[in-house]
Amino acid sequence: MCGIVGYVGKNNAKTVVLEGLEKLEYRGYDSAGIAVVKDGALKVEKRCGKLQNLIEHLQTIDMSSDVGIGHTRWATHGEPSDINSHPHFSMDKKIAVVHNGIIENYLPLKNELIEKGYRFISETDTEVVVHLIDSMYNGDMLKTVAEVVKVLKGSYALAILDVNNPEEIICTRKDSPLVIGIGEGENIIASDIPALLKYTNKVVYLNDFEIATVRKNKVEVFDKELNAIQFEVKVVDWSYDQATKNGFPNYMLKEIHEQSSIVQKMLSSYLNGGDFTFANLFSTIDLKRYTKIHLVACGTAYHVGLQAKYFFNEISKMDAKVEIASEYRYQNNFIDDRTLAIFISQSGETLDTISALKKAKEEGATTLAITNVVGSTITREADITLYTLAGPEIAVASTKAYTSQVLVMYLFSLFLAEKIGKLERKEEKIAELKRLCELLKVENEDEIKFSEIVKKLENAKDAFFIGRGIDYYSSLEGALKLKEISYIHTEAFPAGELKHGSIALIEEGTPVIVVGTQDNLIEKTISNLKELKARGAYIISIGKKEYEDMKNSSDIFIGVDVVSQILSIFSVIVPMQLIACYTSMKKGLDVDKPRNLAKSVTVE
Ligand code: AGP
Repeated sequence: MCGIVGYVGKNNAKTVVLEGLEKLEYRGYDSAGIAVVKDGALKVEKRCGKLQNLIEHLQTIDMSSDVGIGHTRWATHGEPSDINSHPHFSMDKKIAVVHNGIIENYLPLKNELIEKGYRFISETDTEVVVHLIDSMYNGDMLKTVAEVVKVLKGSYALAILDVNNPEEIICTRKDSPLVIGIGEGENIIASDIPALLKYTNKVVYLNDFEIATVRKNKVEVFDKELNAIQFEVKVVDWSYDQATKNGFPNYMLKEIHEQSSIVQKMLSSYLNGGDFTFANLFSTIDLKRYTKIHLVACGTAYHVGLQAKYFFNEISKMDAKVEIASEYRYQNNFIDDRTLAIFISQSGETLDTISALKKAKEEGATTLAITNVVGSTITREADITLYTLAGPEIAVASTKAYTSQVLVMYLFSLFLAEKIGKLERKEEKIAELKRLCELLKVENEDEIKFSEIVKKLENAKDAFFIGRGIDYYSSLEGALKLKEISYIHTEAFPAGELKHGSIALIEEGTPVIVVGTQDNLIEKTISNLKELKARGAYIISIGKKEYEDMKNSSDIFIGVDVVSQILSIFSVIVPMQLIACYTSMKKGLDVDKPRNLAKSVTVE
């Protein structure tokens, strides 16, 4: 997704903006640009490709200024190119605009502007915005922006720089995120918090349709009718270090190593002896009233939903349906006021998930958001929010957010079960949770022979994952991790389903990762393992240490401790995450910013 950074204040805007854009690289992009006001003129420089291309280009150009806006572009309209990069500027080069989102009605607007004599130099939807501002400019940029956004359809986070008003950045948003960092003698706007953490941890989250004027000593926020709004300044408890690599070769490896301490922190935050500290969030609703639970998300978050379904089935004794958000919003979900719809999103900005939430709410569901980003859009749309406390997750491939979301869902399933009188063996279950930190510790890596596994995977065309029951849900996450950062075609199957077609794909040496932790199912899984072995598959097993037959039947066996079968994901997830990470590193790929992917998908 695109990244926006804007700065006005006592430091050099160029430095702050470029550093901020570096912190947003994880969002995925294909070009970058910056605009500053210098000596009464607008200076705009932009380059296709990595941010480093722009940085190198700027080494011989004086862009020092106390006000500027910058952008990393994830192409939607128009190929990645210098011309299509942001910022876009008016024909008289007095106004510059950066944009994250999609202007759905840009074509009719563009045609109207062309009839008025405007000339377009790019293929983007964003260029329409800057010419529209110019065409509607009435001498007051704030009023102009308020009028312009009324004619825009689609999603946007916009930052506008006006040569005639060089002390100020105007910004506004709808569906795409924008935060304002409140500093001393300086203020920063950004698409996400890591871009401003170096300068401040005091942030204002802009809401949809709000417009802000940002000056070095003053921030004002208005509603779409330009009534001034009293805004809340929140303090983010993320440190700048948390948003940096701390000596790891990449963010993903750092974030895998953080999982153990994060689970420990979450348990101490969410459990007070046997009490759930988040109970107060549900004090106004009667959880007994719900007859349906929907779990809705995308990608890895969807895999969290699958684990949660298992928890609700086994612990809360309630059925739950798990849906991909982009499908959920276009189908009949038989929602009523006894539906509890849970939306899971690390970023809290995934447009598919937020759109699905809005639909469920309109149809009468009670909506619960599970997210990692304080103040993100989803938290303002949902009736209730449970945070995952994982800290900033920078790597595009989700790891610590995944495990923390699974934990929150497990805790909620215990809480729900207790509320509806179905919870059994509570003390035993809570005691088990205390041991999860141990399972997530990254240790004795040498014994696990990752180098052998990676050697087998790095040139593989396909790699398959299988498991039964909750092991199948876990294998889906392992497959996605390996796929999205190593670009190997991976698929996960229910182990019992293989022989109904997919086993035709098995050739000599095809790597298959077999997940086995369920005592009541392991024999059948081992039979499937042997069927694959008999057809030449190379078997990498991740299973309970005690499973001798599984160990003896595998080419590589990663033995794990399992605290309880229902929490087996905490035993198998780290090996799968490390397999993906080390394979990607061995292939020399960009582990944190895999091609074509974005950390937060804020388009549909
Ligand atoms: C996870 O590794 C992927 N990067 C992706 O599938 C992600 O989980 C999905 O886009 C949902 O993101 P969200 O949790 O921020 O909504």
